[in-house]
Amino acid sequence: MKQEDLAFYGIYAQRLEEIHDMMLREIQAILDGISTDSEKAPAEHLKCRVKGAESLKEKLRRNGLPETPESGLTHLSDLVGARVVTHFIGDIYTVLDEIQKSGKWQVKKVKDYIANAKPNGYRSLHVIITIPFGVGGIDTMDAEIQMRTIAMDCWASLEHQLKYKKNIRSTALIVEELKRCADEMASTDLSMQTIRDLIQRG
Ligand code: GTP
Ligand code: MG
Repeated sequence: MKQEDLAFYGIYAQRLEEIHDMMLREIQAILDGISTDSEKAPAEHLKCRVKGAESLKEKLRRNGLPETPESGLTHLSDLVGARVVTHFIGDIYTVLDEIQKSGKWQVKKVKDYIANAKPNGYRSLHVIITIPFGVGGIDTMDAEIQMRTIAMDCWASLEHQLKYKKNIRSTALIVEELKRCADEMASTDLSMQTIRDLIQRG
C-alpha cells in the first residue's frame, strides 16, 4: 500500500492487506483447480487491489457518505476487489460455480451484467462476498470479484479511458457508438465460445 493509503486506512490497513493476499491466493487456487492437462488455466489474468484513498474518498463523496475508512468498510463493497479475466464466456460461469461450491466465502450477491448488460453496454459478472474482518469493532466487510472475458475487459478499459481521462461530453453519438462496440464484442465472444465448443467436441 502507498504511504497515503496506509495513513488513511490506519488501524485497518494491515487487515485489508491480509484480505487482499487471501483473496489473491484463494482465487488462484480455484483457477489452478479448474485447469487440467487438456484444458489450460481458465483465466488470462487475475488481479487484486485495495482501493486507493483518493478513489475511495471520491466514491464516498459521490454517495453522500462520510469520507472515513469506517464508512467505506461498512457501506461499500469494493475496498478490496479482484478481477478475473477469462478467455471465454463459459469460463466465467465455471469459476462462479467453483467459488460457490468451494464454500470458502459467503456469497452475498451475484450481479450478472452479462445476462443483463448495463444500458451503456458494460458486461461483467460481479460477485459480492462477505469476509470476516474483526478490527475496531467491524465484524465483516464486503469485497468484490469481477469476472469478464478479454473482450469485455478490453471494452471496459477503453470506455474507462474515454470517460475518466478526458473531459469530453458524452453526446448521444458517442454513447451509441460505445454501445455498438460493446455489442459487437459480445457477439464475437459468443462466436469464439461456439468455435471452442466445436473444437472440444472434436
Ligand atoms: P460503482 O459503479 O463503483 O459506484 O458501484 P455500484 O455499487 O454501482 O456497483 P456496479 O456493479 O455498478 O459497479 C461496480 C464496479 O464495476 C465499478 O467500480 C467498475 O469497476 C465496474 N463498472 C461498473 N459499470 C461500469 C461501466 O459502465 N464502465 C466501466 N468501465 N466499468 C464499470
Ligand atoms: Mg455503478
